[in-house]
This record gives sequence, structure tokens and C-alpha cells, in this order.
Amino acid sequence: MSIAAALPSGDCDRSVCGQAHEKSAGGDIGMRASASLVAISLFTVAAFPTGVRGEVMAFGETVPQVIDRPSPEVASPDPSPIRLDIDSLIERMTLAEKIGQLVQRMGGRSKALNSRLGPDELEKVRRGEVGSYLHVAGAAPLRELQRVAVEESRLGIPLLFAMDVVHGYRTIFPVPLAMSASWDPQVMEDHARIAARESAAAGLHWTFAPMVDVARDPRWGRIVEGAGEDAYLGSRMAEAQVRGFQGSDLGAADTIMAGTKHFGAYGAAEGGRDYAGAEVGMRTMQEVYLAPFRAAAEAGTASYMTAFNALDGVPTTGNEALLRTMLRDQWGWEGLLLSDWRAVEELLAHGVAGTRSDAAGLALRASVDMDMVADVYAADLAAAIATDPALLPMLDQAVRRILTVKRDLGLFDDPYKYHDTQREAAVMLSADHRAAARASAERSIVLLKNEGNVLPLARDAGRIALIGALADDALSQLGSWRARGQAEDVVTLRAALEAAHPDVRYVPGADSRSDDPSGIAAAVAAARQSDIIVAALGEDFDWSGEARSRSSLDLPGRQRELLAALAATGKPLVVVLMGGRPLAIPEVDAQADAVLATWLLGVEAGPAIVNTLFGDNNPGGRLTASFPRSVGQVPANYDHLPSGRPADPDIAKDTARYMDQPITPLYAFGHGLSYTTAGYGPIALSGKSIAAAGGTVTVTVPVTNTGILAGDEVVQLYMRDPVASVSRPVQQLRGFARIRLEPGESRSVSFTLTAAQFALWSAAGEWQVEPGEIELMVGSASNDIRARTTVTITGSAPGTIAPAAIPTVVAVR
Ligand code: BGC
Repeated sequence: MSIAAALPSGDCDRSVCGQAHEKSAGGDIGMRASASLVAISLFTVAAFPTGVRGEVMAFGETVPQVIDRPSPEVASPDPSPIRLDIDSLIERMTLAEKIGQLVQRMGGRSKALNSRLGPDELEKVRRGEVGSYLHVAGAAPLRELQRVAVEESRLGIPLLFAMDVVHGYRTIFPVPLAMSASWDPQVMEDHARIAARESAAAGLHWTFAPMVDVARDPRWGRIVEGAGEDAYLGSRMAEAQVRGFQGSDLGAADTIMAGTKHFGAYGAAEGGRDYAGAEVGMRTMQEVYLAPFRAAAEAGTASYMTAFNALDGVPTTGNEALLRTMLRDQWGWEGLLLSDWRAVEELLAHGVAGTRSDAAGLALRASVDMDMVADVYAADLAAAIATDPALLPMLDQAVRRILTVKRDLGLFDDPYKYHDTQREAAVMLSADHRAAARASAERSIVLLKNEGNVLPLARDAGRIALIGALADDALSQLGSWRARGQAEDVVTLRAALEAAHPDVRYVPGADSRSDDPSGIAAAVAAARQSDIIVAALGEDFDWSGEARSRSSLDLPGRQRELLAALAATGKPLVVVLMGGRPLAIPEVDAQADAVLATWLLGVEAGPAIVNTLFGDNNPGGRLTASFPRSVGQVPANYDHLPSGRPADPDIAKDTARYMDQPITPLYAFGHGLSYTTAGYGPIALSGKSIAAAGGTVTVTVPVTNTGILAGDEVVQLYMRDPVASVSRPVQQLRGFARIRLEPGESRSVSFTLTAAQFALWSAAGEWQVEPGEIELMVGSASNDIRARTTVTITGSAPGTIAPAAIPTVVAVR
């Protein structure tokens, strides 16, 4: 029986509840109050009725604005019973206890979890000086830590336990960039669901995921953690992961709180240098970088983490206009806002705070509720409040938001429900979870090139020379965030290929971390004695991730030499391209017969790749980030602006292109081949015009499998607004559907859009649907458009939210 269940429950008035929260010698009275507090819980985290108009200080300028915060009559009725209870608890708290709730401490390091949980730390918990721990795990140790908080601290407020569970807890799935290449939000939702089930069983309440930063620069190592370069696709992947982590009930024992990150424009770091500032125009900020965050809010994300970097000179963690005014006041988002690691303290290094108490004041004013590990709130917020008493109500707001998520997680009801050791043992890396990891790995693979249909391999392919250290590198398949993933859980390409095929000669040849060319000769010798070469080339796990920016996008180490030597043998050459970012690999495209992008695919990497090589899995993934021809082309995103002098390959003309290289990327956004082919019919529109105020249009296209194998097609819908008050991107994704087709089978795919999805961020700083023609394009990739039409918007109307954040309704018949 739970502690809460063992105690009398029932409503209590404000003062009685308040009394009961104080810790008595017996140690359990705090829990009694907590139980009754939750017994009357009626409140959900996110509700965003829209449409209240008013005059606000918008992010960047003062404008009349559609404010989409809940009106006081609609949500958060105050006084509501639960608001009174949390308020009464806050009233009983000392200043130090309030500040304690805002403190997140390190329970260990990411690679040495729980290592810091010694007696001094427990004393802090007893004194109510900690609200949350990160880098902790394990049902049993965290139960004991929670017991100290709820039974031995004065008010018995439970702790929040957090970890970076980014693409799996024990069952490691493909890295997020890979999963985004599935173009299948269900893959994202499934991984998050399973990650939540495993981590909630291990005592965790909160993950720092999804990472939804749009990344247009592959030099940035953290491109691996997100969904690539597009705001629309990134929005779908963001909401899918929030749904997966949080489920329909944050209080269920197998769901955890999503920590959508890194709020701001972290992905726009200049030069792709991690942590560097972003210089992003307001329109791109609103339409591109903020859109996936907005989609996560619509899906109910209960927390966000702030970006480390500065935007237009304002460090995000102290950016009041972006956070308090826009996120809180305009979006009406009421969840828990956490700083990134020491980001409050880093306001000093950014040069916007002279002292730690200035930094504390800046962050709290910006509405940052919790300070990750810097202890600036812990040590210096009291001084800031003494100097500026206006911070005190902001402190209460922050405490209220933190207590609210604790309540919504059910921690006041049963603080031990995440600490069932039997459940923990049963769920980890279960057969079902492994099967899901395999399925998502197969769906994440992208066939970039397949000349002469060298793939799929015949079962009697003869002798295969398997070359490349990455083929046998189990650890790398776990990526840079591996939570509790273990290298021994991984089935490598080598292990899987040797199990599936009778005649495999494996030679490492070259390693992405070494400058030693001495293994190349043996690789070439093995290749000569084989019928086909499968070369695993690319980057190991440590080339991408946090603080893993690169100035070159070449194959690292001696792999280019290895590739050239293998190609010179004249044997059929299949490159299995591994890694966490798009690379600039024209030489691979030129020398290999087939190129299969397999990223870093998690515990089932090997079987997924082998199934794809032999055609048991027909690859259907598509790129979500363009592959440039060289690092000098970066950024090479498909949704760029048109320019007054659009690129022309004729170098006699002065146009927006390079003298020494084609303007096009090597592999475009949306590109990906299959072992079959798809044919598209003409577009049918539900009507030739659409009313700017609330109109809808349905775009339908028939798609047929014109090949001889079953396979998937990713049908992509793009738009362009050719004449508008501001210049519009040459293409913008507005819908997609990954469909399965048997040979000869046809299906019709319909996309239904609302006028608000054609809106732009106007010069006046508002969402605006303008009259005029919209071009619609349907195709198999951004550079492979198969059908076009136009629709006319009649009238004009205000938009609602970032158009990319609004999902298109897709129907497949
Ligand atoms: C990263 C975050 C991460 C945090 C906690 C930071 O360095 O930027 O993404 O969640 O550490 O591990």
C-alpha cells in the first residue's frame, strides 16, 4: 500500500493543509498533506485557448498582437481548489525552502550516475535545499533519496529525478537525426514511449528531450540530436516525442515529463560552433527556429530547457522578451522552464551580468524556474531579492510551477510509484523493445545511390569483403547520448553479416579516429579476393554531439584513401555510411556503386543494415538535412530565399552561386531511393480558392508503385507564395506521408491544409494570411517534384501560430 493510501484523505481548508505540510517528529505528516493535496487535483498542465487580442510587448517590438494565453475566465480559475493548496504550501515555505525548489543538483556525472549522492547531499535534501537531481538512475537508490526528501525534510516535498534519455534508456534506438529520416512520426513516438517506460521504471520523472533545434549547419555536432533542417518536419517529430514521453497522463507510472530543448535559436550557432551566438532575423526566428517549440507546446510539453547561446546579443537564459513575454505571456505556456547546464552562471561570461546575484535576477526575471547545477539561485538569489523585492512574486511563480509539475506527475500522491524494482528488472531491453528498435532502425536507413541496382545483394552474392572499423564498433551505434545503453547490447554490422552470410572476410582497413594508413593494404587484398565490397565508412560516435563541431565535413582519418584504394580494385562497392551528421562526400558518390546512409542505429544496427543490404527491408528513409558538396556550401538548406539573381549555372552571368561548384547540394532534403520506383498522377484540388479566414483546401495525388518490389514512398507536399509583402522561401514543406505500396498498387494521398498554414510573419510582427496565389508542389524529394498546381487565397486574415507548427491532416486511401 502506498504511503498516501495508508493515510486519511479528504479535503482540508487552507490553513489546515498548510499546517499539515510542516514536518513533525513522526516524519509522515508532510505526506498526509500531500495526499490530500492531490486528492482534489483537477488541473492539467497545458491548455491554450487562443484568440484574446490586446497590446503587448512582443519579442522584439511593441505591436498589437493576437495573444494566445488563456484568459482568466477560461483557464486557471483562481481561486481553484488546487491552486489554493499549492498556494497554501508556498505560504508555509521559508525563503530558503522556496529557493531550494529552484535548485537542480548533480547526482553524478552522465557517465558516473549517482556518484555524488553522499551524506552531504542528503543533508541538503533534509534541509529542503534541493528541488531536483540530474544524472541519477535506479529504482532502489532513487527510492531512498526520495524517502529522505518526503520523510526527513520539513515539508516533505518530493524531488524530481532527471536524465538525458534522448533516444532510449537501456534499449537504445537510432540517433534522433536518423529517426527523423524515417519521415514517420510514429517511429519518434514509439521510441519515446519505450524510453519513458524504461526510465520511469528506473525511478526517473523527467527527460531532457526531445531536442527540437532546427539545424541547417552540419558543422554543428548537435545536428545529430535533432530532426534536421526543416521546421515543419521538426514540428511533427517534436510533438510525436512529447506524446511518446508524456502519454495521455503525466501521472501514469510509465510516463515521464518531456524537457523540450534548447528553447531559442541554439541550432543557429554561428559557424556551426557549439555555444556560439545566433544572428537570426525575427521572421526566420518565428517561422523556423521557434516553430518546433510551439508544436511541442501544443502537444503539452511540461518543461523546456533554455539554450546556452545568445540571440542577437541577448543570452537566452536571461532573455526576458523571448521567455517571459513571448513564451509565457503570449503563448500562455505555464510549465517548468529549466536552464541548461550552468547557463545561469554563464550569464557572467556572456557579459550581461557583473555578479552572480545579477545573473540570478536576470534569469528569474526571464522566468527561468530552475537552475541546472550552477547553484547561482541556491547561493545568490536571496541577495538579488534583497536588492530587488519585485523578484519575490516571481520566485513564488517559479515555485508554483515546479510544485505543479510535481503534482501532475503524481508525486504528492505516491512519491514511490517510480521505484518498483521488479518492474525495473522486467522492462529493460525486453524482446518487444528490441523489436521496436530494429523496426525504427530499418525505417531510418536512406539509400542515397544505387547505380546498376547493385543493391539489394543476392543471397548467393559470393564472398563479401567487409571493410571499415565502424563495422565492428558497437559503442558507436549508441551515439553520443546513451543513457544506460551498453555496448554489449549492440549487434554490430560485422556480427550480423557474419551470422547472415556464409562467406565474409572482415578487415578494418581504416579507423575514423586514426591517421594510420597501414591497414589499407590488407583491406585491398581482402577486397581483391572477394566478389563484392561492403565498406562501413563515416564518423564514429564521438565526432558528433555536444561540443563536437567540425570545420571540415570530409570523411575523417584515412578513409578517403581507403575508399579510393577499394574503388581501384574494380569490385562492386557498397558504402555503408555511418555517423551523426551530413558529410560532404562527393568522392563517395563518385566511386561507390551504392551508398546507404545508416547513421548510428542503436542496439539493432547490424541486423537492420543486413536486412536492408539483402532486400528483406526495402529502404524508405529520406534525408531531413541536405548533404552539401563541400563545407563551403553550408548552409545548404532547401528552403532558402529566392534572391534577386537566382543561381544560374552559366558563370558568365552574375548570380547567387559559386564559381567553383554547382549551387545544388550533393543529396537534397527529402532525397532517398528505394529498390522500387513510384509514379505520381496529377494533383486534384478540393477547390481553386481558399478563404484567408478559416478556409481549407485538400490536395490529393495518386501514387503508384511502378517497380517489381514492395516498398515505401514518402510523398512530400511543398508550397511557395510567389508574391507577398515579404520575400518567401523557394519551397516550404507543408505535409508528408510515408506509404507502403505493393508492386503495381496505387493509393491516393490527401493533404488538408487550413489557410493559417500559408501565413507569414509580417513586417508588423504578426502572423498574417495574405491574398493571392500559392504554388503547391508534390513530389518524391525537394528536388524531385512530380506534380504542381496553384490555389488562390481570397481576402486576408490574421494567422494563428507558426504555420510550420500546425499539422496538415493526411489521409491515405
Ligand atoms: C546539454 C543539455 C543537457 C544537459 C544535461 C548540457 O550540456 O546542453 O542538452 O540536457 O547538459 O546533461
